[in-house]
Amino acid sequence: MFTFKFRLVCTLFTMKTENHCLLDIQTQFLCCLPIKKFAWKDTLKDLSWDAQKNLLNETVDLVILQKYPLDTNYVIRFLRFVINDLESQAIEVHDDLYTTLCAYQSKSNENAEYFYKHYRIRANENDDFQTVILKENRNKISQGTTGLNIWESALAISEWALQNKNIFDSKNVIELGAGTGLSSLIIAKCCSPKSICITDGHVKVIENLLENVHNNFEKSSDDRFHHGTQTVIDAMMLDWMTITEKFIKERLMQVDLIIAADVIYDNLLFESLLTTVRMLFDHCDNCEKFMLANAVRNEDTEHEFLMKLGTFGLQYQVEPTITSKLLYWEPNEFSPIKLYSITKKRQ
Ligand SMILES: C[S@@+](CC[C@H](N)C(=O)[O-])C[C@H]1O[C@@H](n2cnc3c(N)ncnc32)[C@H](O)[C@@H]1O
Repeated sequence: MFTFKFRLVCTLFTMKTENHCLLDIQTQFLCCLPIKKFAWKDTLKDLSWDAQKNLLNETVDLVILQKYPLDTNYVIRFLRFVINDLESQAIEVHDDLYTTLCAYQSKSNENAEYFYKHYRIRANENDDFQTVILKENRNKISQGTTGLNIWESALAISEWALQNKNIFDSKNVIELGAGTGLSSLIIAKCCSPKSICITDGHVKVIENLLENVHNNFEKSSDDRFHHGTQTVIDAMMLDWMTITEKFIKERLMQVDLIIAADVIYDNLLFESLLTTVRMLFDHCDNCEKFMLANAVRNEDTEHEFLMKLGTFGLQYQVEPTITSKLLYWEPNEFSPIKLYSITKKRQ
């Protein structure tokens, strides 16, 4: 009797651990983490026939991917890795893994310009998982903009937000140069802001952004997008070059916190970006902080931006380096990401 109970407990424990590992693989797969960065742990070790089928069901064959597909080439790389690993262990590979790989290979030339990534997040042990579905262009620059692709700074500031949820609680947040909107969508779903206004200055970016908002949130009876009962989500065109005080008064009303990621790559934008930030600080009574994540590709450009803050009566503080804990991402080793907290200079 005792042996039976002990075996049962061991089996249940192993199943729980296996499920946990599979969930981890699923999370990494859905956000298209580069395969070489996967934390596989022992998921593929001695993988049984049934467990192989289960892995396929919980990754490539997920129903949600029919509506919001990942990049075909990424799925091929994932399947090839799994098959190669199993073959190298001399394990019999499930027929469905081969068949699925063939099916994906046959459509690899039809690679769409756009595909989706799914970010599954649990900010606290006891929280439910939240999923953010993001449509992005495969190219870093396309249609004359950098805003159709997710940049690492967006992941970094999202990670920071998840680790500092209290800063956003019940606040009115605005994001400038939001691109795909990843950071704002994560904040809206996980950090309980009162409202989040997601903005960008490029027409094509706004089109994609609106689609992303639409795919992640429900519209309520007031015709606005909501998350739960608390958070209102708006997406709108806001070009720093043409922003006016009238626009701020009529369209933005309340802003407590400004955020932006990867928006200081071009020194021709500094003047207009800082004019916008200063106007928001001056016209929104509670707006005191601008959190900016920047991938440092050129130290001179960044230095020029930081020096310019003084001429707008602004000052900065460098925040501690952000490390990946709640999201799967890794900063590019050649362009480390810095987070700045920018405030008005005291008189
Ligand atoms: C490198 S992308 C970063 C996008 C996003 N924040 C991210 O990190 O994934 C820079 C963004 O700034 C936006 N941008 C550039 N100039 C702008 C302007 N004058 N007004 C508003 N947004 C602008 C671009 O449209 C683009 O979406």
